Amino acid sequence: MIELGRRLAARAKPGLIIRLIGPLGVGKTTLARGFIRGLGFEGDVRSPTFNLIFEYSTQPPVCHADLFRLSGPREIADLGLEEYFETHAVLIEWAEKAGDLLPEDAATIELSFADVGREARLEGLET
Ligand SMILES: Nc1ncnc2c1ncn2[C@@H]1O[C@H](COP(=O)(O)OP(=O)(O)OP(=O)(O)O)[C@@H](O)[C@H]1O
Ligand SMILES: [Mg+2]
Repeated sequence: MIELGRRLAARAKPGLIIRLIGPLGVGKTTLARGFIRGLGFEGDVRSPTFNLIFEYSTQPPVCHADLFRLSGPREIADLGLEEYFETHAVLIEWAEKAGDLLPEDAATIELSFADVGREARLEGLET
């Protein structure tokens, strides 16, 4: 997950929005950590489960969000995620909760548990 995140960081640009989908503990935060580290950030990359959003002053800047604790479109709209859409690379855990509040052209990474390790399905990202 760290390695996949690091590789994807090469494609980071403002306006890149990635939905991170997959069950509890599958590795969404870990992938985001690799992505943010791949942009040169050397500090802690923590799970935004409780803070909802963390920002990183990388180049491009990153917004790492987690919608797990939010219940409906109203709460998600109030989070103000769209403020980041043009300026940041945006990584969103539990993004399926946002439904159509996210731009249609957002990329998706779907993670699942495999017999050994994890499986990742990428959509809307050139490899
Ligand atoms: N490919 C992997 N193989 C083995 N362990 C992994 C892998 N990816 C992540 N982990 C471990 O699984 C645990 C959960 O990972 P992580 O917090 O990234 O999951 P998450 O999908 O963000 O969970 P949540 O749904 O709670 O936000 C961590 O201890 C992490 O180190
Ligand atoms: Mg997480």
